[in-house]
Amino acid sequence: MPSLNQIRQTFLDYFARQDHEVVASSSLVPQNDPTLMFTNAGMVQFKNVFTGAETRPYTRATTSQKVVRAGGKHNDLDNVGYTARHHTFFEMLGNFSFGDYFKAEAIEHAWNLITRDYGIDANRLMATVYIDDDEAFELWKKIAGLPESRIARIAGSDNFWSMGDTGPCGPCTEIFYDHGDHIWGGPPGTPEEDGDRFVEIWNLVFMQFDQQPDGTRLNLPKPSIDTGMGLERVAAVLQGVHNNYDIDLFKTLIDASVEATGVAAEGDSLPSHRVIADHLRSSAFLIADGVTPSNAGRGYVLRRIMRRAMRHAYLLGAKEPLMHRLAPALVAEMGGHYDELKRAEATIVETLRQEEESFRRTLGRGISLLDEAVGDLKSGDVLGGDVAFKLHDTYGFPVDLTQDAVRAKGLTVDVDTYNILMKEQKERGRKNWGGSGETAAATEWFAIKDAVGASDFVGYDHLSAQGHVQAMVLDGQSVESAVAGDLIQVVFEKTPFYPEGGGQAGDTGTVDFLHGKGDILDTKRQAGELIVHLVEVTQGRVKVGDKSELHVDADKRKTTRSNHSAAHLVHAALRHVLGPHVSQQGQLVDAERMRFDFSHGGPLTAEELARIESEVNTVILQNAAAATRLMTPQAAIEAGAIALFGEKYGDEVRVLALGQALEGPGDYSVELCGGTHVARTGDIALFKIVSEAGIASGVRRVEAVTGEAARQFLLEQAGVARSLADQFKVPVSQVEARVEALIAERKRLEKELGEAKRALAVGGGGGAASGPEEINGTRLIARVLEGVGGKDLRPLAEDFRKQVGSGIVALVGKLDGKAAVTVTVTADLTGRYNAAELAKAAVIAMGGQGAGGKADFAQGGAPDDSKADAGLEAVKALI
Ligand code: ALA
Repeated sequence: MPSLNQIRQTFLDYFARQDHEVVASSSLVPQNDPTLMFTNAGMVQFKNVFTGAETRPYTRATTSQKVVRAGGKHNDLDNVGYTARHHTFFEMLGNFSFGDYFKAEAIEHAWNLITRDYGIDANRLMATVYIDDDEAFELWKKIAGLPESRIARIAGSDNFWSMGDTGPCGPCTEIFYDHGDHIWGGPPGTPEEDGDRFVEIWNLVFMQFDQQPDGTRLNLPKPSIDTGMGLERVAAVLQGVHNNYDIDLFKTLIDASVEATGVAAEGDSLPSHRVIADHLRSSAFLIADGVTPSNAGRGYVLRRIMRRAMRHAYLLGAKEPLMHRLAPALVAEMGGHYDELKRAEATIVETLRQEEESFRRTLGRGISLLDEAVGDLKSGDVLGGDVAFKLHDTYGFPVDLTQDAVRAKGLTVDVDTYNILMKEQKERGRKNWGGSGETAAATEWFAIKDAVGASDFVGYDHLSAQGHVQAMVLDGQSVESAVAGDLIQVVFEKTPFYPEGGGQAGDTGTVDFLHGKGDILDTKRQAGELIVHLVEVTQGRVKVGDKSELHVDADKRKTTRSNHSAAHLVHAALRHVLGPHVSQQGQLVDAERMRFDFSHGGPLTAEELARIESEVNTVILQNAAAATRLMTPQAAIEAGAIALFGEKYGDEVRVLALGQALEGPGDYSVELCGGTHVARTGDIALFKIVSEAGIASGVRRVEAVTGEAARQFLLEQAGVARSLADQFKVPVSQVEARVEALIAERKRLEKELGEAKRALAVGGGGGAASGPEEINGTRLIARVLEGVGGKDLRPLAEDFRKQVGSGIVALVGKLDGKAAVTVTVTADLTGRYNAAELAKAAVIAMGGQGAGGKADFAQGGAPDDSKADAGLEAVKALI
């Protein structure tokens, strides 16, 4: 029985033999379309190839694509665990022709692969075609020998595939597998088609059109092929099971969950184990692609998936966080094909553990509240929206988690009321904003915005602009006028000043009022759409309505621009060098430097940093023009965005492309960004990383400088090298070798010095301390040794012990003002003397605490070396 991994490989190998380029799965976070929530089909990474906007060095490709369908148009989240074939994450196997082969060859390949390489019984297969696609109908007869009774003509969207409301689309043909009459259901097109007996395993799309926003369809440059086969479904067929959750991969994951919880996968617990196994996959793959749990956008979808699984873990009675303990089983199963999973394993484990620990703080109480509220509701009843709201607000239950929780009892949730309460809460939040002193002005800003409307930002194209004072705030109050010396906040109807946002610092500069002047110290956004300038009036006066000339500090803006664009390039370079799990966790760009925080498990090596730096500088040298596309969020959705789930955008979305890809065609970096950027990458001039460090678990920070600052940094470093070279009197190129030689020399000298000190201590000295003395018939060598620390006393004690033959050796070493004591008693005398006691007496006499050791050898130390002699006297007194 072939394993899931073998089935995937067979597919890719088959198409590789048919001259298809085996292309790696693209990230779950679409790279060429930042407005799309998740990659939801194999063709997403090829979208622009179909339309002709992008060309590649191949015209045939095959992939096993990671796909997430949770949230947005294709949302399978709610069904997971309860049906045989729904997943939030799955793998889509596909073959693609970009204007190369078309219908006949696509059908032939599909048929050959499934009946020969996979060996599926042809008698169990049937096909559907689009209602009027006679050509495909005939091809199925001719190529596959299917009787007409097993080719169904289907109208409507089931057999016409499109990636979104616009973009590549075309009629399709689907291959169905008959799991047998022991399962209820009928062939497609019959009234029983919703049953589970006939399962679609492969969709072949005949890509022919590019759907336009106005509803018309343009022909694609060339007819093309896009196919998608669910790996888990075909694995179920090939492994002789009906339910996807019974294939080898899910068995392994469910076994791990059973093992960790000690609860068998049966009865009511079965759906829980399945949800956990499914959600583990989507969570881990999303984290590996750089998504982190949060309260908005992709991060919130991830959080919902994770928390849903975590509730099921709790239901199974797991006392401790569970999900992170299952990650190794997943990595072992899927990390072979998806290297990113292995690379991000530490991040995955850590993210799951932290989220589960934090959710568990409220989960139990939330469930109690829910149980109480559900009380004696009966199947078909509706749970109040107020309860769902409270669960969300106080206990962190996403609403779909609540829906999932009451589903087993046949209940639904009053989502309308829930939504109203959520909206009211947002309003309250806005009002309460004015509560504290610090934000006293916030309510004022909303009032001002209602009065004067949104400010117009013209700073992408201009550094100076003319406007009129629309409103002024002094000490949190709207005022009509101000005079020199006042520090005011001013709103103009339009401004070239960039308000702090997206990690970019606010602009600074100057303003010429009709009858005065001011310095603009900072710029911020308020009440969503107001651009507020912090102005120190330096001359004259100003009143509302005054005409004003605004001038951004051009030098600062220029370096800020360079630093911001460099941050985008670093983001792309980090992903290339470290892997696609890297994602931005925060950034700060201003005129001085750029700081970029990102998810990654451990410190970067010097080699990785050098590669990142070099890649960014390579793109700078391309000097390619930056390209900005502007779209309304609506247009972005129409252009293929499945959902802008919870993301907040203004009226338009800016998409910035920088540089040319280093391999193949396309852009080097594409990001949604509202900041200000260079016109050409060459404007950045030079890029230099100045530091790299960890700032939180799984999060690293790089700081870098560009342009003149980078040049200065390098000059300083070169200066240090120069000065070292001068001191060493060698060329710069030999400084390193010189330092290495010095270090080696120093080591050698230290060793020699140690040996010399020892020789001197043992052999030299003279006077009273030179030879053994005798006290009450016991031979004793007692010495104070200058410049010898505790760790060097031990070998010396050994030497003295040999010298004394039978007797006691008591040494006090003095180093850096402290004293160290070593006492040795030769073996024949340990019955009479205890080294530990002697050492202790010495240490105490020297003002220390005590000593440690055995009868034959003991050590201790004292804070002050001035009483060394007293220490030795104390030893003598005991003999
Ligand atoms: N793009 C097609 C699908 O997702 C193959 O079904």
